[in-house]
Amino acid sequence: MPEPLDPALAEIRAALLDPVGLRRAVAAGHRRDARPRWVRAELRPVSLKAGGALQVVTSDGVRPATRNCAWGEPAASAVDELLREPFGNWHVETAAGTLQLRVTRKGEAQVHRSAAVAAPLPAAHDRAREHLLDPGDPLFTVLGGSAAKRRQVDAFLRAIASTVDGDPGHVVDLGCGNAYLTFAAYRYFTAQGFQTTVTGVDVREDQRARNTALAQQLGCADRVRFVAGTILDAPVPQADTVLALHACDTATDEALARAVRWESTSVLAAPCCHHDIAAQLKRSAAPLAYQMIVRQPILRERLADVLTDGLRAALLRLYGYQTDVVEFVESRHTPRNVLLRARLGAGAPTAAQQEQYAELVRAWGVAPRLAQLLDYCM
Ligand SMILES: C[S@@+](CC[C@H](N)C(=O)[O-])C[C@H]1O[C@@H](n2cnc3c(N)ncnc32)[C@H](O)[C@@H]1O
Repeated sequence: MPEPLDPALAEIRAALLDPVGLRRAVAAGHRRDARPRWVRAELRPVSLKAGGALQVVTSDGVRPATRNCAWGEPAASAVDELLREPFGNWHVETAAGTLQLRVTRKGEAQVHRSAAVAAPLPAAHDRAREHLLDPGDPLFTVLGGSAAKRRQVDAFLRAIASTVDGDPGHVVDLGCGNAYLTFAAYRYFTAQGFQTTVTGVDVREDQRARNTALAQQLGCADRVRFVAGTILDAPVPQADTVLALHACDTATDEALARAVRWESTSVLAAPCCHHDIAAQLKRSAAPLAYQMIVRQPILRERLADVLTDGLRAALLRLYGYQTDVVEFVESRHTPRNVLLRARLGAGAPTAAQQEQYAELVRAWGVAPRLAQLLDYCM
């Protein structure tokens, strides 16, 4: 039942300014026709040498900014500043329970209060600056994994934060492997107050069994499910948000093709190896000016990386996706650090965009796997 917004926000204000009761709070999303200054704000109590404080981490989707505000007037004014922003969701965890508030289209508050406290996150203020999900999160204890993997996944979450606008709907992680990203995405979205469901797909049955057992252990098996099957045709409900982190070679094309067929709103794919186009380049006649480069295996491979992802981005645009190709993490954490980031809604392609793609394919004499999977006709 919706409630008036102001009293609900006053309840949140009291919880945020309670140094003893507050565990953690997150504001995210936006109200109808309004954009907050930040994509996300996270608040938690921290202990500093100078005494207790409310830590406020605001993020524009790329870089978080951290402030520690002493309890009293500084904390109150930081909280009031955030409450004035038109965030669409507040998620507040206190010693007494959890409060989730969503602002409806009519500007009312849809509030869900539960007595059970979600697993409290440690108040490690020094780590919060660097990580979107706290490395002390119990999730990581259960999942294990290297520091480099955590860094990669955290960076991927940042890219998600800057791409997915509000509720991610059903999220599907294609080629999920040991499901690091799958669980992290679930944690990230639920921390923002969304009732997210996530499905991980991997061809390996042993991964499905292991990941399902982990979901049960983490108490989220009703919302995080795993399916053994191929990316192209595993039985999975339509996804609104598609993720693919290092799906091998043309498995990335399969993930993109599945997303296009689903008409998924947001697609984030960090490709792995690019053997398919590299092999085609070896056989085909490259443009004369490039033939010397293509004869060198290492240069051919690097060229294939660029060409493959360029063709993928161009094809996504032809299917109505606004697409960019970015580095999502520093190369010292993984050399496979390129990310294709796409959002549906770019409209029909122009004749020039169609011609550019056709010319690229003709000039290099290659047949992109993604085009085959989508039956794209030039
Ligand atoms: C390099 S691992 C990456 C796993 C995970 N996304 C990560 O970043 O940790 C690639 C995973 O994709 C799976 N895979 C490869 N091709 C696949 C396909 N066509 N269908 C389903 N899974 C596939 C593999 O079994 C493997 O677990």
